Amino acid sequence: MDLDERINQVLSQCEQTLKSISSHQDLEDIKVQFLGRKGLIRDLFSQLSQLSDSEKKHYGESINKLKMEIESKISQKGESIQSKIQTSPENQVFDYSLPGFPYSIGKKHPFTLICEELYQIFRSMNFMVVEDREIEDEYHNFDALNIPKWHPSRKLNDTFFLTDGSVLRTHTSPVEIRTMEKISPPIRMVTIGGRCYRRDASDATHSAVFHQIEGLVVDENINFCHLSEILSEMMRGVFGKPVEIRFVPSYFPFVEPGAETLISCPFCKGDGCSVCKNSGWIELGGSGMTHPQVLRNVNIDPTKYQGFAFGWGVERLAMIKYGIDDIRLFFENNLSFLEQF
Ligand code: PHE
Repeated sequence: MDLDERINQVLSQCEQTLKSISSHQDLEDIKVQFLGRKGLIRDLFSQLSQLSDSEKKHYGESINKLKMEIESKISQKGESIQSKIQTSPENQVFDYSLPGFPYSIGKKHPFTLICEELYQIFRSMNFMVVEDREIEDEYHNFDALNIPKWHPSRKLNDTFFLTDGSVLRTHTSPVEIRTMEKISPPIRMVTIGGRCYRRDASDATHSAVFHQIEGLVVDENINFCHLSEILSEMMRGVFGKPVEIRFVPSYFPFVEPGAETLISCPFCKGDGCSVCKNSGWIELGGSGMTHPQVLRNVNIDPTKYQGFAFGWGVERLAMIKYGIDDIRLFFENNLSFLEQF
């Protein structure tokens, strides 16, 4: 075999052996085998002594080249073994001191928050908390509440009628009727955050879907002062301080006397601010003494029992408490809005 062939053979032998190994220890052995003092390269160099001067020059260069090539292949293999060791799963080190990934924490919707608060307030006053249907019949939504057939609120453009003649309740007052049909006085009931529907075009203060809190007390010797006290207590609970209640006479067929109910502005104490539109007062909904005809409709004797009731908008209350200026925000599930609470 001439020397050229032997040089090629040593190179391909080296390549083959490198392919078959995967540890630093094996690589060390290969280094010794090829580049060591008694290694194959050394062996090739030793054969030069038997050659002529020109052959010595030629083969000397070839063997030097071979030596450099083998050195570089061995060091490349070393790097690849090292990187395999580092990325193999059993060798990956978990660094417990690294910071974790941040994630956002869920929060309660402002509507839920105010409902929970109202629930606590009325439970502490020993009210029964009830819920009832959103699809009502005309009798409970209107007739039983003494709302005459000709009343404008019954019109198609105010009320959603279903094809079978039932309605999406336009207020939570039918829950008063349903409660009085089921239980007899004394009654102290509240329905909190009952969903109502009206054919309103939506804007910053109107929504076709909204929620009311409705309260009803029926007992002997009930008068307007009781109504006023319960509303004051509810407001003290919601705003955490005493708030004045003001009644402005108004007409609702199911109460007599009836009133639009206002509270003194909890933010400016009556001096005037943007929340109360500089009036010092904020309107929250209707209230009044239950109409005798309504009591008769549910077989309660109005000569023995009296009642009072109120029905207020829950979104409206939450808007005032939390400074929300658009009712539509309650229904949009906009994260940057919800994260504020
Ligand atoms: N149901 C009336 C409304 O939706 C509010 C109300 C309730 C008024 C109870 C008086 C008594 O506007």
